[in-house]
Formats: sequence, structure tokens, C-alpha cells
Amino acid sequence: MEIAEAQTYFRQTTVVDHYSRAVARVGLWNSEEKIFQRLFQPEQSLLELGCGAGRIAIGLWELNYRHVLGTDYCPEMVAEARRINQVLEYGVPFQQADATHLPFDDEQFDGAIFGFNGLMQIPGRSNRQRAMFEIARVIKPGSWFVFTGHDRNRHGRKSFWKEEHKLWVKGRQNPMIEEFGDLYYEADEGYWMYIHAADSAEVQADLEQAGFRVDVSALRSEICMEPAEVREFSDDTRFWIAQKR
Ligand SMILES: C[S@@+](CC[C@H](N)C(=O)[O-])C[C@H]1O[C@@H](n2cnc3c(N)ncnc32)[C@H](O)[C@@H]1O
Repeated sequence: MEIAEAQTYFRQTTVVDHYSRAVARVGLWNSEEKIFQRLFQPEQSLLELGCGAGRIAIGLWELNYRHVLGTDYCPEMVAEARRINQVLEYGVPFQQADATHLPFDDEQFDGAIFGFNGLMQIPGRSNRQRAMFEIARVIKPGSWFVFTGHDRNRHGRKSFWKEEHKLWVKGRQNPMIEEFGDLYYEADEGYWMYIHAADSAEVQADLEQAGFRVDVSALRSEICMEPAEVREFSDDTRFWIAQKR
């Protein structure tokens, strides 16, 4: 699957509206707030990738982070994030950017965030690796990169992946998907969504290759409790905290 094909989902008005509502209704997750405040200082220049309608960048502004640039490859998401920022009279900049081809200088930022599984919505392991290399390129040595992704080996999903494995062995997997762990399904009213549920060893190896050292890999539920709005918005997911070497 091409990146542009996966992008189609996020360009739909109903999907943009979903992420727009999450800015006020969901806000920063408790886990995100805890992690970001531990790793990042308010005066640091931070790059957010896959910002959607701005849930994280706006949440960080409210915690006095004044140098977060929100980016997303969908112009519709960027437009919505800018609209919300204007209504709130905040000063968060938003820009269109594809994580696999970042329009930024080497070592321009003091850290990076790719929240709520956006990195795993890039189809193809080589494209996800490319995004990791790009992120490593634009942040300074020693700085942090935080992201989340579904973990296909976590307890509770094992039986699904066992069945999926049987389909692959018989060659009867969804013909739209290319790698084991890929999911492509009808998420909302006829809109098809791509996501890769990774194996932890695969993510760890890709991060190392891109020049990161993995500091923490933990399920959100292991980090802290989240309110109902967060759990409805997003299933449990694995946080990765990596440091550029
Ligand atoms: C699950 S949404 C999360 C949105 C937002 N971070 C939030 O938590 O509300 C994933 C976001 O990643 C963006 N995305 C996916 N692939 C991307 C890429 N290659 N470059 C930049 N953004 C991407 C999508 O457009 C979408 O807005």
C-alpha cells in the first residue's frame, strides 16, 4: 500500500471532526503529560509529528510549552488545528509535513513526539524506518523521541494474531496488506484505515538502526490510569521512549 492511500482515511471530514473533538474532550492523556513533563523542558523546541487537529500541541501549550511545532501530512488536519488554535487565541504553529520526508534542518529540534500511533499508520516497514531516520536527523544528539504503537504480542490480542497467522500460512490474508501485523479495516462509515500492529523486537531493531537507544518501552496501562474519555478514544498502547545517540 502507498502512503497516499493510507492518507485518504485521515482526509475525510468525519475523521478530521473526530480528532477535532478530541482536542477539548480528551486533551492530553495522563500518561502523555507525565512523560512529556519528565523528558521535555518548556523552553525546548519540540517537533510533533502526526498532530491531527492539535490535541497534543495544544495540550502542551496549556502546560506552558511555547516552542512546539505541530505537523501532519494532511492539509485538512493542519487547517483544523490552526482553526482551533485561533479560536483559543494560542500561539501554536502548525505546518504540513510528511514524517518520511521532513522539511527541516539537521539537529533543528530538542525532541520529537509522534503521538497516538501515527508512526504505525505509515504503511510499509521501510517507510516507518525512513520516518525514524528522518526524526533522528532533525533532533539533536541526546534528545528524546516519544511515540506509541499497538503491540501485537500483548496479552489479550494473542488469539487474534494466532488466527491471523493461520490465514497468512494459507495465503488467505487480506490482499490489501503486505506485512504480517498490518491491519486494514473499515473503521468508520465506509472509511478504511491502515495500521501496523508491531512486534516489540521489530520496533526496537528499527529504532537502534535509525540511531536511537531505547530507554523505556511500556504499555500505557503500566504507566498510569486514564479517564474514561481517553480509554474510549484509544485502546491501550505501547509507549516508546528513545534517545538519539
Ligand atoms: C491516530 S491520528 C492521531 C492524531 C493526533 N496526534 C491525536 O492524538 O489526536 C494519527 C495522525 O498521524 C498522521 N499521519 C499519519 N502518517 C503520517 C505521516 N507519514 N506524516 C505525517 N503525519 C502522518 C495522520 O494524518 C493523523 O492525523
